[in-house]
Amino acid sequence: MDKLLIKGGCELRGEIYASGSKNSALPILAASLLADTPLKVGNLPHLNDVTTMLELLGSMGVDVMLSDDMEVQVDTSSIDNLNARYELVKTMRASILVLGPLLAKFQKATVALPGGCAIGSRPVNLHIDAMRAMGADINIEDGNIVASVDGRLKGAKIMFEPVSVTGTENVIMAACLAEGTTVIENAAREPEVIDLANCLIGMGAQIEGAGSDVITVNGVDRLNGTTFSVMPDRVEVGTYLTAVAMAGGKVKIKQAKPEYLSSVITKLESAGAFFILEDNSVEISMKKRKPNAVSLTTGPYPSFPTDMQAQFVSLNSIAEGNSTVTETVFENRFMHVQEIARMGGNITLKGNTAVIEGIEKLTGAPVMATDLRASASLVLAGLVAEGSTVIDRIYHIDRGYERIEEKLKMLGADIERIS
Ligand code: UD1
Repeated sequence: MDKLLIKGGCELRGEIYASGSKNSALPILAASLLADTPLKVGNLPHLNDVTTMLELLGSMGVDVMLSDDMEVQVDTSSIDNLNARYELVKTMRASILVLGPLLAKFQKATVALPGGCAIGSRPVNLHIDAMRAMGADINIEDGNIVASVDGRLKGAKIMFEPVSVTGTENVIMAACLAEGTTVIENAAREPEVIDLANCLIGMGAQIEGAGSDVITVNGVDRLNGTTFSVMPDRVEVGTYLTAVAMAGGKVKIKQAKPEYLSSVITKLESAGAFFILEDNSVEISMKKRKPNAVSLTTGPYPSFPTDMQAQFVSLNSIAEGNSTVTETVFENRFMHVQEIARMGGNITLKGNTAVIEGIEKLTGAPVMATDLRASASLVLAGLVAEGSTVIDRIYHIDRGYERIEEKLKMLGADIERIS
């Protein structure tokens, strides 16, 4: 099994490109199920989760054509199996995103229940309740969500509590081909929801309000394919910016959209970093020897993203001063704390808050990646630790970071993939 070997202590300098957004690519690929003609999706990141989604579509009989530059053409006219199997769903919870499109287009779907995961119980009750409110008949049989609808789904008023990103996306997609109007209240405002809506609008959908907490969708009779390029990955960009704030140096990230990173950039400024922001690029410089500690609380967009929480625990572990990091989105998203503690981090967990005392230096150690963003925090810790860090189970990192070791190497880090 691959591992990452990192020798800490190098400053980061240079330029890299942001990859396409994983969390935007996944719903957009699922949206291909709604179209009568092929959908072409560009700027897809080369990630295991994207491969899993393509495999999932392929397992349903969908024709997927991949070009070298990761532009994909998805043609659903050959679909012959409306079943998302457990083997694929258990490796990627976002597989639930096919539920809405399958029901809306084919009136039937069987989607395996995802089960538990490392960052909390993560139920899918909101997805199921919303489809029921739109007229679907849903039973849980042998670990599967077995769903069907007599005729078309019906527009409905759906209220999310708590806010759910993929829940909002599932309902938007279902509503596009439903009869009548759907109004989603307390909708997720994440930029990836806007990206999905823009793609669907390009396919002929009638959607208003994406990016706000009320989204209105007027159902149409059919959607066509279009060509769409997914937005840059704001979590990937945020992760590299945090790496620079920790390791020092100056880095420009091109093809990034800093407007979607305000909460992260504000915290990094408090940590002592300087930014030059342009529409499509972000440059960070860190002249201080160490970042200042920054306290934060995660929340749905535009609050501080839970997907950046682990990276900031890492930053705070070597910062000047003490901090608290409070997680409000997922109940158990602190698996990285024990691993950073193995590198010398001084972190105490009090309920859903990590209380962090910044220390002079972390020391390299063998550590284990437990989930996607926890793994990223260990890479950042390794970059600044004294000595060598070996990170095991990096398949978690490969789910969400495209060529992480190549990008960091280009910036001067001493990092390599070993087996
Ligand atoms: C998405 C992102 C993930 C990010 C998360 C929160 C994708 C593919 N993944 O995940 O990277 O960390 O948003 O920003 O876009 N909940 C329920 N019942 C449900 C659904 C959710 O109780 O049916 C709860 C969850 O347990 C969690 C909260 O709602 O506490 C938010 O989760 P949600 O926004 O749904 O996360 P995902 O869409 O799975």
